[in-house]
Amino acid sequence: MNILLVGSGGREHALAWKIKASPLVRTLVMAPGNPGMAALGELKSVAPTDVPGLVALARDMAADLVVIGPEVSVEAGLADALVSAGVPCFGPVAAAGQLESSKAFTKGFCDRHGLPTSAYRVFEDAAVAKVGLKDFSPPYVVKADGLAAGKGVVIAPDLATAEAAIDDALGGRFGGAGARVVIEEFLEGEIGSLFALCDGRTSILFGSAQDHKRAFDGEQGPNTGGMGTYSPAPVFTPTLVEQTLTRLAEPAFAGIAAEGAPYRGVLFVELMATRDGPRLVEFNARFGDPECQVLMLRLKSDLVPYLLACATGRLHALPPPEWSDEVAVCVVLAAEGYPDAPRTGTEIRGADQDFGEGVVVFHAGTRRDPDGTLRAAGGRVLNVCALGSSFEEARLKAYEAVARIDWPGGFHRRDIGWRALGR
Ligand code: GLY
Repeated sequence: MNILLVGSGGREHALAWKIKASPLVRTLVMAPGNPGMAALGELKSVAPTDVPGLVALARDMAADLVVIGPEVSVEAGLADALVSAGVPCFGPVAAAGQLESSKAFTKGFCDRHGLPTSAYRVFEDAAVAKVGLKDFSPPYVVKADGLAAGKGVVIAPDLATAEAAIDDALGGRFGGAGARVVIEEFLEGEIGSLFALCDGRTSILFGSAQDHKRAFDGEQGPNTGGMGTYSPAPVFTPTLVEQTLTRLAEPAFAGIAAEGAPYRGVLFVELMATRDGPRLVEFNARFGDPECQVLMLRLKSDLVPYLLACATGRLHALPPPEWSDEVAVCVVLAAEGYPDAPRTGTEIRGADQDFGEGVVVFHAGTRRDPDGTLRAAGGRVLNVCALGSSFEEARLKAYEAVARIDWPGGFHRRDIGWRALGR
């Protein structure tokens, strides 16, 4: 098969690593890719939102499948254009992708289809939103409506911080993504991420993980795209998995199909495990980043048949995927200043060495100079991932590998998986 993979982050490096391992693959092209992905196939410099450019590339390379990594491509309508061009595509059409690209849409969707989530209100005017805060109690959850790379969510301990978050979002910090804000009830419980694949009709469970959203140890600091993950997530008891599938994932697939946009791809269900069962925190219309990294380390089955089956409506014909019994941990190395103002351009040494069995370092935001020097080129820069027979072993291996990377311009959390350690 010829496969085009769209995206350039750690998630896409992990997908490329797993796709490349498939005996079904003849050619892997990545657009635009990153220096780590360059070892796995050919990179083409086409942006993830350049829909005509990506469709033309898919045609030129006679792609049998296009795999969409990032949400920006979903929102840009890449799947819609590929479907029109007759190219099989893993990733939902934009109308289905609204489950991620608009938090206000998703809240209304939950109301329409009876999915459990937190109480909420949607505002377009800052003064009205500030008055609306009175309907909630602290901590206040203020979210920009649209895509903001994980940075549009503020958990505000007091009114002043919540009001500043409203001003920030509605004042244009996130561009069009902040044209509306959603204020919602703070949910108590433990957060978890569950993944389900769907081909428009059939859906299957595709693993679980837990992420650390805050920038600093002890769940302190601003929200980020994710600072580290582990899989499986112990919060997912068989009961919670069953409840999440039957109360959130399956109703979402049925609901979005009923609204005229059958879902083809992966749905990332981020939920709060409360005393009353799972309640939706948010949906994402793609794999999590860095949740995908730990899932790919643990996936024993060939990934490609599952991606293709989602695109072609053949998921019913596949057995459930097989997962390693081992635990995977991912530690994100981020550039100083992330998430607000990451300092890029700093030199990184030792990222491409052999770290030994079960340790993989994915590139997330790097660039390579013509002389081979590797430099930071984004906020989240490297993902250091390890498999171990126990959570403790996986974590130790990941942090030993982190210690071997020489990057004074970066930082990372030292407490990834503290909840799992404490169990
Ligand atoms: N790690 C959270 C996300 O991908 O949205």
